[in-house]
Amino acid sequence: FSLKPYNTFGIDVKAKFFARFESVEELQQLLQRQELQQAPLLILGGGSNLLFTKNFDGVVLQNGIKGIEVLGEDDNFVYVKAGGGEVWHDFVLHALQQNWGGVENLSLIPGTVGAAPLQNIGAYGVELKDVFHELEAVHLASGQVHRFNNEACKFGYRESIFKNEVKGQYVVTAVTFRLHKQHQLNTSYGALQTTLAEMQIAQPTIQDVSAAVCHIRQTKLPDPKQIGNAGSFFKNPEIPLAQFEALQKDFPSIPSYPVSETTVKVPAGWLIEQCGWKGKVIENYGVHKNQALVLVNYGGAQGENIRQLAYQIIASVQDKFGITLHPEVNIH
Ligand code: EPU
Repeated sequence: FSLKPYNTFGIDVKAKFFARFESVEELQQLLQRQELQQAPLLILGGGSNLLFTKNFDGVVLQNGIKGIEVLGEDDNFVYVKAGGGEVWHDFVLHALQQNWGGVENLSLIPGTVGAAPLQNIGAYGVELKDVFHELEAVHLASGQVHRFNNEACKFGYRESIFKNEVKGQYVVTAVTFRLHKQHQLNTSYGALQTTLAEMQIAQPTIQDVSAAVCHIRQTKLPDPKQIGNAGSFFKNPEIPLAQFEALQKDFPSIPSYPVSETTVKVPAGWLIEQCGWKGKVIENYGVHKNQALVLVNYGGAQGENIRQLAYQIIASVQDKFGITLHPEVNIH
């Protein structure tokens, strides 16, 4: 079974079995099946944060649980539950239509609602954890439904308990969000501020912020429908302030964002660009020309080639800056 249509990198690998479930009950029934007892399992959302480097010798399950419903509301908030298989941006569009605030900065992120908490998706100054209330997940070993509140998910920068302590043990079947009826715009991110200023809107709405975010993403990031990619390939590294200040002596223009009093985050895209990788094309794959953090498949590339390219990039950034980059995509 070819997984090519199911990963945004467009890598052509095969899985032994593939099945899609559209409800918790369907998933629970699938988990009882003989074929699933021993085989490794891979749960797929939009396939937008992974790189396949070889055939998957197991079962791929696609989450197709849909539905968006309001669970409750008060003067300030509305609690909205969405199925794990909902397309993330469709959920954002629904929130914008209903005039619910909080996810406008997260417009146009590829992937699904169920995958969003795993890596605590984030963009333009907002992270999923800022609007997350709780989730329901099926425990693969027992088939039971467990609930995780915000604290239980142990969210961090592109991190959660589902990438760490309980990795591979759960399928997220629904997420409940706490969205704002009284909007609080977050427009502090540099590129967002500039774009809104260019749009010349005095009092931006959440719909305007979404439009600005969509514009920035469309100009900077390649559309996976046209060029295979999985967004940022690496995380932005966090380094000690002392190390940053030392680097500033050699590289006065090195950008940074404060994380704490003793650490800063450095944009990996800048580091990679400084090493000469931006826009590099090797046969049918390479580094995107507008955003060096994004590796691309121009068509027909092998996942292993892209992984090797990633290693070369890590080595050269290590060599020049003494900073270790870590992949943000899941490599299989
Ligand atoms: N930069 C360069 N060269 C590049 C790319 C970036 O010099 O080729 C520098 C620029 O100085 C720029 C700064 O890096 O001002 C930041 O760039 P950008 O605003 O594009 O954001 P980023 O830090 O590269 C992160 C997220 C993106 C998210 C944007 C906006 C990570 C790993 N990536 O990228 O998330 O959309 O911020 O918030 O944190 C993703 O996770 O797949 C993703 C696209």
